[in-house]
Amino acid sequence: MAVDSDVLDLSLATSGGLGVEWADRQMPVLRRIRERFEKERPLDGVTIAACLHVTTETANLMRTLKAGGADVALCASNPLSTQDHTAAALVDGYDIPVFAIRGVDESRYYGHIKAVLDRTPMITMDDGGDLVSTLHQQRTDQLPEIIGGTEETTTGVIRLRAMEARGLLGYPVISINGADTKHLFDNRYGTGQSAIDGIMRATNVLLAGKTVVVCGYGMCGRGVSARARGMGADVVVTEVDPTRALEAAMDGLRVLPGLDAASQGDIFVTVTGNKHVLRAKHFEVMKDGAILANAGHFDIEIDLNALRRMASGHRTVRREVEEYTLDDDRRLYVLAEGRLVNLAAAEGHPAAVMDMSFANQALSCEWLNANAASLEKRVYEVPEAIDKTVARLKLETMGVRIDELTSEQQEYLSGWEEGT
Ligand code: ADE
Repeated sequence: MAVDSDVLDLSLATSGGLGVEWADRQMPVLRRIRERFEKERPLDGVTIAACLHVTTETANLMRTLKAGGADVALCASNPLSTQDHTAAALVDGYDIPVFAIRGVDESRYYGHIKAVLDRTPMITMDDGGDLVSTLHQQRTDQLPEIIGGTEETTTGVIRLRAMEARGLLGYPVISINGADTKHLFDNRYGTGQSAIDGIMRATNVLLAGKTVVVCGYGMCGRGVSARARGMGADVVVTEVDPTRALEAAMDGLRVLPGLDAASQGDIFVTVTGNKHVLRAKHFEVMKDGAILANAGHFDIEIDLNALRRMASGHRTVRREVEEYTLDDDRRLYVLAEGRLVNLAAAEGHPAAVMDMSFANQALSCEWLNANAASLEKRVYEVPEAIDKTVARLKLETMGVRIDELTSEQQEYLSGWEEGT
């Protein structure tokens, strides 16, 4: 019998399946975990509701959880990131219930979240916090059934910590983002490459010689800056945090206040996780032809309502490129409606980096299930043993070997007497 679902078109399943296999070739760590899960079934009897970007990489995570014995259902964590062929493949090829269609309106998007919650999950897996916040606002009756959750991204962890601080968090959640093998790689190399990829697929502009303004110098901003610079752009960073600004300056980048950067930039990329980073006062001074993209989780970083109010008109000029004409005839170009440019205009982070993020997800789920009884209603870091296992496995699959401490070195590190 066909599994429950709401996807665009099941006839896309064959091409979707090829994409899932293609990604799997670049996900050897997750594959090893899947092979172990198939034998050990550590998630037998566990129902999981996942709210993630519906991509080929996520499909391989879903396969892994299912191989571990979980009853898993998936909905999208962003209305524009769903790959419809991948969603079809999950339903038709892997018998996994999926509720996700690219481009749905807000009400259907939240309808899909409720559809996975209707399956009475014991574990939630979130990317950005929409699942957790729906549960805590509209489905509080389900909270006692939930043993724990995981959160993939910086934005979601910020929301969880705010809930924890107010005593509102209903169950333990693991911050996948906190793992070194997640944020040092996914946020930096993943966002770095995929955000540039999204901008290029949408516009086909040459980056060499352009001024690229990167708003925010967290891990994602560092990645975008490094990749833009590597392609010959003059990179300007804007920041509110003095340490990060200092780091950008010492990385050899120009650091400017937003308003100064606004008049100089050819391409803007917001990666702050905060609201209205680019707003009316910036639009007022931007150059004709400036391109505006967001690579942060939510579509709030560019104040599109202000831009719409300022514009005399707008039209779609290419796939994922909206042109806004201002009163003085300057034209500004917004990519992917201000949503995550890497997922909406490209395919998200490459599989080789999602391999590590999703290995952390799979192993953290196993850990949650094994340790549920002793956990409190708070945000947990990924256990260090898991983080190091992921790093070791990744190195192994890359054929990279490293050294071990000698016993003399171990002793030295644990002592204090030896000095000058
Ligand atoms: N977040 C960023 N890139 C992603 C991908 N390829 N799959 C799932 N989530 C992502």
